[in-house]
Amino acid sequence: MKTRFTEMVGVEHPIMQGGMMWVGRAEMAAAVSNAGGLGTLTALTFPTPDALRAEIDRCRTMTDKPFAVNLTILPSVTPPPYAEYRKAIIDSGVKVVETAGSKPQEHVDDFKGYGLQVIHKCTSVRHAKSAERMGVDAISIDGFECAGHPGEDDVPGLVLIPAAADVVTIPMLASGGFGDGRGLLAALALGADGINMGTRFCATREAPIHDAVKQLLIDNDERATHLIFRKFHNTGRVAKTPVSDQVIEISARDDAAFSDIQPLVSGAKGRVAVETGDLAAGLIWAGQIQGLIRDIPSCKELLERIMSDAKAISTRLAALNSH
Ligand SMILES: Cc1cc2nc3c(=O)[nH]c(=O)nc-3n(C[C@H](O)[C@H](O)[C@H](O)COP(=O)(O)O)c2cc1C
Repeated sequence: MKTRFTEMVGVEHPIMQGGMMWVGRAEMAAAVSNAGGLGTLTALTFPTPDALRAEIDRCRTMTDKPFAVNLTILPSVTPPPYAEYRKAIIDSGVKVVETAGSKPQEHVDDFKGYGLQVIHKCTSVRHAKSAERMGVDAISIDGFECAGHPGEDDVPGLVLIPAAADVVTIPMLASGGFGDGRGLLAALALGADGINMGTRFCATREAPIHDAVKQLLIDNDERATHLIFRKFHNTGRVAKTPVSDQVIEISARDDAAFSDIQPLVSGAKGRVAVETGDLAAGLIWAGQIQGLIRDIPSCKELLERIMSDAKAISTRLAALNSH
C-alpha cells in the first residue's frame, strides 16, 4: 500500500510505532521496521545523549530499514539537555524524527537545517496548523483515545482526524486508538495517510516489556484506563492498575497537590513496573485500544494481519458500490 507517508519515509506499510518511554529501545524499533513499518527509538529512555548514540548504533545492527527517533519536550523543573540529545540524533545520521510536546520550534528549525524529516505529534487542529507553519514534514494527530498525553480538549479521533485533514496539507498520521485493519482503513477514510500506534505495539513479542504487563493489556477492556493529572492540566492516559486507582483517589481530594501523587507517578517507578511486571510499582501507560488487544503476536504477524484485514475490508466495501 502506497500513501504519502510510505513514500515520504520509505517504508512498506503506512504504520508507525510512536515514541514510548522505556519501551522505544532497539528491540522494539528494529522489529517494527523489519516488519515494514516505521519503528522509533525514544531519546529520553537513554540516560545521556551518548547512550542514545550507542542505541542508534545498536538499532542499525538489527535493521537496515529506516527508523525514527522520538524527542519529547515536556515541561520540567530540571529539563533534560534537549540540545545535546538533538545533536546526538543529527550526528547519528538518523533521517526521521518524531517530535512531541510543547514549543518544538527550536528543535524543528535545527532538525530541518540538517535535512531531517520531522513528524510532529500533536493533539489539536490548531497545534497541527502551527506545526505545519513551522515547517514540519508530517503531522501525527493524537485523538482522545490515545495512551500518553491526549491534551485537554477531549476530542476523539472520529472528529479530530477529519477536522485536521480538512486543514493540514502535508502528510498526516492518525494516532490514538488504532490496533487493527479496521482502524487503518477507517483512518485512511477519515483523511489520514497512515496510522501511528503505541499501546498495540506494547503487546507484541518483541516489546521490551514484562509478560505480566502484556497480559494486563489483554485483560483490561476499553474502559480500563484512567485520565490522570487532569487537575494539573497535563492529562495523561494510563492503564487502570492499583497505582493509577490510587492516583485518581488522591487527586479527587479538594486540596490535592501534585506533590501528593508525585511519589506514585515518577518515571523511574514506571520503568520498574514495565520491566519487572510489578503492577504496584508504578504507572503503566496505555490507551483505550486495550479493549481490542487479545493476543501477543510478533510485529511481523501484527503488521501482516493489519494489512491483510484492511485489504479484505476495502474489497468488501468496494463490492457494496457494485450493487
Ligand atoms: C508505554 C507508552 C509510553 C509512551 N511514551 C511516550 C513518550 O515518551 N513520548 C511521546 O511522544 N509519546 C509517548 N507515548 C504515546 C505514543 O507515542 C502514541 O502517541 C500513543 O500511544 C498512540 O495511542 P495508542 O496507544 O492508542 O496507539 C507513549 C505510549 C505508551 C503506550
